[in-house]
Amino acid sequence: MADTDLTFPQGFFDRSDARDDAVFYGPPRLVQHIDDAAVATVSAFYDEVGVDGDVLDLMSSWVSHLSTPPRHLTVLGMNTAELRANTWAHERVVHDLNADPRLPFADASFDTVVSTVSVDYLTRPVEVFREVARVLRPGGTFAIAFSNRCFPTKAVRGWLATDDAGHVRIVRDYFTASGAFGEPVDEQRPSAGDPVFTVRATRA
Ligand SMILES: C[S@@+](CC[C@H](N)C(=O)[O-])C[C@H]1O[C@@H](n2cnc3c(N)ncnc32)[C@H](O)[C@@H]1O
Repeated sequence: MADTDLTFPQGFFDRSDARDDAVFYGPPRLVQHIDDAAVATVSAFYDEVGVDGDVLDLMSSWVSHLSTPPRHLTVLGMNTAELRANTWAHERVVHDLNADPRLPFADASFDTVVSTVSVDYLTRPVEVFREVARVLRPGGTFAIAFSNRCFPTKAVRGWLATDDAGHVRIVRDYFTASGAFGEPVDEQRPSAGDPVFTVRATRA
């Protein structure tokens, strides 16, 4: 039995579209997944975290929602055209985290890892969170932002079965189950548009 099974009930990570993620994410979506007000709120959150230096945007697309370009930005996602359109990126990696949760980066490569409106698509999140800790430098932060919107066929069943407060609990549980971070900090951030929830924690 995997250790994630102890925390999350059977079926939690099932999805109604169980096909390979490459099928769904094959066509580029050069769109904004949350409204302008929520984007501004996410950028302010990342400013507060202090996103600079070597940064990884996990589950990225054509925009990383940072207010200023970091020294070195690596973006990892599913779609080559989306990542190519991310003009702030220095390095672009197409990698399916559900097929292989290992991150193709050396230990302690990044100062900060961010992930925006995507954590709900992970089917092996605890392994991914452990990997994020491995590639973070000591004291580095994993900062996650999400809203109340998603691609329902690709979000995990456990996420779809609960509400905003439940989503915050789920992300906190991913951090805790990974055993690789300090105490997570969660907040609902003021947004004039789509709601924005954040959970962050520092590498243990
Ligand atoms: C709703 S979009 C959000 C994109 C971007 N973070 C943003 O804020 O605009 C979800 C993103 O998650 C990425 N994604 C989904 N499943 C993934 C997987 N299995 N492995 C890696 N990335 C994945 C996709 O490439 C897609 O760009």
